[in-house]
Amino acid sequence: MEISVIGCGYVGLVTGLGFAELGNSVIFVDSDEFKLKLINALKPPIYEPGLEELMRRNGGRFYATNDYQEAISNSEISFICVGTPSKEDGSIDLSHVKASARQIGESLRNKDGYHVVVVKSTVLPGTTENVVRQIIEEMSGKKAFIDFGLAVNPEFLREGNAVEDFFNPDRIVIGIRDEKTREILEELYSPFNCPKLITDIKTAEMIKYANNAFLATKISFANEIGNICKKLGIDVYEVFKGVGLDHRINPAFFRAGIGFGGSCLPKDVRALIAKAGELGEEPKILKAVIEVNERQPLRMIELLKKHMSSLEGKTIGILGLAFKPDTDDVRESRAIPIVEKLLEEKAKVIAYDPKAIDNFSKIFPHIEYAKSGQEVVDRSDALLIVTEWKEFGELNYRGKIVVDGRRIDKAREALVYEGVCW
Ligand code: UDX
Repeated sequence: MEISVIGCGYVGLVTGLGFAELGNSVIFVDSDEFKLKLINALKPPIYEPGLEELMRRNGGRFYATNDYQEAISNSEISFICVGTPSKEDGSIDLSHVKASARQIGESLRNKDGYHVVVVKSTVLPGTTENVVRQIIEEMSGKKAFIDFGLAVNPEFLREGNAVEDFFNPDRIVIGIRDEKTREILEELYSPFNCPKLITDIKTAEMIKYANNAFLATKISFANEIGNICKKLGIDVYEVFKGVGLDHRINPAFFRAGIGFGGSCLPKDVRALIAKAGELGEEPKILKAVIEVNERQPLRMIELLKKHMSSLEGKTIGILGLAFKPDTDDVRESRAIPIVEKLLEEKAKVIAYDPKAIDNFSKIFPHIEYAKSGQEVVDRSDALLIVTEWKEFGELNYRGKIVVDGRRIDKAREALVYEGVCW
């Protein structure tokens, strides 16, 4: 099939290249000229395992442009994969979604034939049928579900695992209203053998929020239990091993530590809280999930102070800056509040991450960045392990003070070892 993908972030790129690998033709659309150049040169603009190989293997099946008309005229399905960041008050910023809906609408005005627009960006229930639909109808002069199709197809890709997740999804959720759109998307997804859940449009939108909110809740719950375990001298990982064996619960997402970051979980929980507020609901659990998550990284500093009365003038090493391993993404990384607090306490900070130094140094240009994890270890008075990169399991921690936020077992050889929840 012929597909256009609007927005070349990790979701758009992985989705588009995944469809190309399955034999479809894909046109990527983005306004960032630099990204377009990289994609057309078969170079991934972001770090994501497996992406470069996917690009090289499918070089003949895709290209990137900034021309919406060209992309819409030469495809039958468009996926909107642009970002939906948080505004200051936690509510969702729809400006990119609206801008792409406008451009798609304008292009549809000049196109005959049924074109399906699929919203993959995470948007609150009601957005596709109210906001996106209205913009496309206005700009195109056409009617949704009659002249063009509209659907929601949330993504559940984890950064660092996105390529693998694309090809092996737990399920595919498709929110539709008209039969023609259903048929086209069922055909597109026919190579996948997983359960496919067809719902109405706003249910599909809500599934994505409920899903991420539950994952975030599991993590904050594990951290709260972990904080209690720490005081009782109990290993919270043993506890959740036992809990996760209950088939009603499942063992995933119980890794206690310093909480969740990234481009999705914090933003989606906040957006759902803001939406609930608009509806006159007070989402107590969701608010607590965020509160626990915001406090959790600072526990590392409290633990550090158990072993160093003042941090002033001390060199504190940070191992890991990405919000999780195998990505260069630092959005909402736990390293951000930790470094802020260390600087406030007048400590000297030296940091290392295998992939995320470039991105982190845009936020903190004045801290020192080391060339390796071992250099950080060797030059610090104390260390904080913030991201569980595999290579941190091979460093020599002997003689050091280590506060571990992510459970790197090798670090237990340190002179002083404090796990944040164990
Ligand atoms: C998430 C969802 O998992 C994915 O389905 C959705 O499409 C996008 O958002 P992602 O943000 O890439 O994916 O990362 P994820 O693996 O979910 O981790 C998020 C954060 O939670 C990371 O900071 C990670 O370190 C933390 N985490 C995860 C924990 O602290 N403990 C856990 O047990 C799991």
